[in-house]
Amino acid sequence: MPDVFILGIESSCDETAAAVVRSGDELISNVVYSQFATHQPYGGVVPELASREHLRAIVPVVRKALEDAGKSYATIDAVAVTQGPGLAGALLVGLSYAKALAYAADKPLIAINHLEGHIHAVLLEERQKENRELQFPVLALVVSGGHTHLYLVERKQGSWVYHDVGHTRDDAAGEAFDKVAKLLELGYPGGPTIDFLARHGNPEAVKFPFAQIKHRDRNPQNRFPADERRVDFSYSGIKTAVLRYVETHAMQAAIEQRRRALDGKPTPSREDYVAACDRQTLDLVASFQRAVVDDLVGKTLLAASEHGAATLLVTGGVAANSELRQTFESRAAEEGLDVYFPSRKLSTDNAAMIAAAAYPRFLAGEFAGAELSSEPGLKLR
Ligand code: KG4
Ligand code: ZN
Repeated sequence: MPDVFILGIESSCDETAAAVVRSGDELISNVVYSQFATHQPYGGVVPELASREHLRAIVPVVRKALEDAGKSYATIDAVAVTQGPGLAGALLVGLSYAKALAYAADKPLIAINHLEGHIHAVLLEERQKENRELQFPVLALVVSGGHTHLYLVERKQGSWVYHDVGHTRDDAAGEAFDKVAKLLELGYPGGPTIDFLARHGNPEAVKFPFAQIKHRDRNPQNRFPADERRVDFSYSGIKTAVLRYVETHAMQAAIEQRRRALDGKPTPSREDYVAACDRQTLDLVASFQRAVVDDLVGKTLLAASEHGAATLLVTGGVAANSELRQTFESRAAEEGLDVYFPSRKLSTDNAAMIAAAAYPRFLAGEFAGAELSSEPGLKLR
């Protein structure tokens, strides 16, 4: 089989990204333009601003990815693009551009689900490390700012098939990180800052009990077999619990003081944040992170045992979290499970994962037609 060079394009949220991947196997170029600075003042992604920034960035980002790879529109073999899920306007920019490009260059167009992309970020990097012997069944936790999803992954005649065995009923885990950071004046996105600050606090200081989710399939009267049971998540409660803690412990003055201290710095460093945090805040973020990590790891391991998984993949922006990685590594080792993460660079949104996920579809000839449209609520199957 000759080499296949796929150009991937991703624009589902607040990163404009393009990459070239060879035969689903090797990352040739990877360009990510992040809009953090645009959304930072609002403490979250503003959809209209995201679309506008994608429009500005898409052409130079794609050009740079081709240039870094030593490729041109003529010498790539296919264009892959994120179809959904994501922000409607943001998705539309990448998809329209990819469609136009594929049409003008006369290349096949491949539509990819963003969540499938996150899973393939891990697979791409494991193949790069010559690890091709993944033990099935595989359970993948996709955990980011927009998603907290557990999929049981199978391979059927060269294609990948995904069964949703659990997801968040309200907020995504990354959204909880971002909202808690916003509440405490810790900037946007909140995950990386909380990850760093938590190292300086006591994770045992505040106890955050998680509400038990009622699963119909766990009612003994319904007698669902273990492998049909779901493991769902919920992260809106912990955000409210942090807010209540702030109110009952009179932390508003300290938060206001931090806002003023960081106001003059356009991009505060990690050290600036540490310097602007008192002990109580550091303990609070460490305890919050510990609670979310324990919940994610505990529920994933429960699902792994009920579905007989042999391998865990943990991916998406929150997979960059140091405590999450360490806890997964030690707990999975105790259970005799292999666990793989993407590198930090490929944990958050990128287009290499889109180009990698497109390779099996290229081989299977699964190409999109001119009628392809973006789907903000696209499900992964
Ligand atoms: O995958 P991603 O780039 O975009 C989505 O598809 O949502 O994930 C972004 C999310 C944000 O919520 C961000 O706060 C979180 O990932 N994140 C982290 C860390 N790095 C990024 N959360 C916790 N710890 C981190 N180190
Ligand atoms: Zn993502």
